[in-house]
Amino acid sequence: MSLELGPLRLQGPGATDAVGRLLGGRAEPGFFYALSGALGAGKTTLAQGILSGAGVEAVGGSPSFLIVRTYRGRLTVYHVDLYRLGEGAAGEPLGWEEILEGEGLAVVEWAEYLRPLWPAEYLWLRLERPEGAEGYRLLRLEAAGGTYERLAREVAAAC
Ligand SMILES: Nc1ncnc2c1ncn2[C@@H]1O[C@H](COP(=O)(O)OP(=O)(O)O)[C@@H](O)[C@H]1O
Ligand SMILES: [Mg+2]
Repeated sequence: MSLELGPLRLQGPGATDAVGRLLGGRAEPGFFYALSGALGAGKTTLAQGILSGAGVEAVGGSPSFLIVRTYRGRLTVYHVDLYRLGEGAAGEPLGWEEILEGEGLAVVEWAEYLRPLWPAEYLWLRLERPEGAEGYRLLRLEAAGGTYERLAREVAAAC
């Protein structure tokens, strides 16, 4: 059972950042935010907003060259980008159990590549840049678990 909301319209990068900050501010130990969307859809923008909201001060760039970047904010935050691993991601010995089921917040770009390892409860954020869209993105939310369902509703109400 899960709750699906959207599409929500995010008008400009600032709107993507604002959703991220809200999510980062609400994050608790063990949280899992799954991010999906084609290249250029806004995943890293959203992830950086989440990091800021979670109290991470020095946010690096996209983790594209490092699969996992670990930050200390209000809580430990793992920023993961699976783009280069693709479908083989789950088989890589990168300590997924600690990242996905430990005490930190996991923010995972291209999260679909790790689908078999997702925790039972999650918030899945799917970004889309519609054909020809310049100044906005669409965001769809799928929440599994009461905590994430409430959060998804809060995001929808804020957009
Ligand atoms: N809501 C939005 N409206 C318009 N542009 C956006 C929005 N969110 C992000 N962008 C822009 O889209 C581009 C790609 O963003 P990025 O986060 O790098 O995407 P991804 O990580 O999915 O490849 C950036 O220039 C970013 O500023
Ligand atoms: Mg990116």
